[in-house]
Amino acid sequence: MRHQPFGSRGHEVSVIGQGTWYIDRGDRKSAVAALRRGIDLGMTHIDTAEMYGDAEPLVAEAIAGRRDEIFLVSKVLPGNASRRGAIAACERSLARLKTDRLDCYLLHWRGAYPLAETVAAFEQLVSVGKIRGWGVSDFDVDDLDEMLAVAGQGRIACNQVLYHLRERAIEHAVLPWCEQHGVAVVAYSPFGHHDFPQPGSKAGKVLQTIAEAHGASPRQVALAFLTRAPAVFAIPKASTPEHAADNAASGKLALGRDEIAALDDAFPRGPRPRSLPML
Ligand SMILES: NC(=O)c1ccc[n+]([C@@H]2O[C@H](COP(=O)([O-])OP(=O)(O)OC[C@H]3O[C@@H](n4cnc5c(N)ncnc54)[C@H](OP(=O)(O)O)[C@@H]3O)[C@@H](O)[C@H]2O)c1
Repeated sequence: MRHQPFGSRGHEVSVIGQGTWYIDRGDRKSAVAALRRGIDLGMTHIDTAEMYGDAEPLVAEAIAGRRDEIFLVSKVLPGNASRRGAIAACERSLARLKTDRLDCYLLHWRGAYPLAETVAAFEQLVSVGKIRGWGVSDFDVDDLDEMLAVAGQGRIACNQVLYHLRERAIEHAVLPWCEQHGVAVVAYSPFGHHDFPQPGSKAGKVLQTIAEAHGASPRQVALAFLTRAPAVFAIPKASTPEHAADNAASGKLALGRDEIAALDDAFPRGPRPRSLPML
């Protein structure tokens, strides 16, 4: 598994991590086994959120006894992101995760509370060691500019955004902004949530051909393409150990320049949308 610095704070984090949205909806044993297999194979970056139902307790079970190996991320809902609310929400997440700290704590999306309030809460959590850093999710460049003005350079660890083969809007402005300011980009829904390209489609065939050339799966190729820039991480969600193992293997897949060009062609970036797409 490849590791790279997560934003400008210097932490080395696995490029491919593990998402947990809806992981509590299926077979719990299989979900815990999937996360554990993923960790064994190097996907130590685990993404969860207070919004994800019972995902946090399930993550607690999966990481029990190996917390120090994990880069653990959770998120506060915008409705809880006040000066006091964010601190209380973090403490609830820590209790559900059975840990004393998060490696990164994110504002799940921008809400009504002033950014300065949320930042003050995040910085307090950093100062008492309950979080090691913080970031944002679904922030477009205007939000990022505002957050930078509030928090100062070097404080925003990451921006978690929708990014998959058929949704490349972040490449227009968000990714360059983050690269310029040392902010990690975390690709959520890297398989398009439930919409991975069909193998029979024209673009799906391009993916398949490249996968076959590497003895890899199309999903491994998709993850390698999405993480081709050194600022980008991806957090696919898998509910079975087999899926987790498949995803982890993408961590050692390197695509050639021609293959990247072929994927770029098959899944074009398209024009810049008026607002940042999100799920
Ligand atoms: N910040 C935000 O607002 C936000 C929004 C959305 C998502 N996220 C985060 O990003 C994570 C990933 O996004 P996502 O859950 O929306 O979707 P995703 O990772 O794009 O896709 C998940 C789907 O892919 C399937 N899958 C995974 N690995 C597979 C494999 N190797 N072979 C075949 N199928 C495979 C999963 O099936 P199985 O479950 O059956 O394995 C599931 O149906 C979330 O879990 C969450 O942590 C954040």
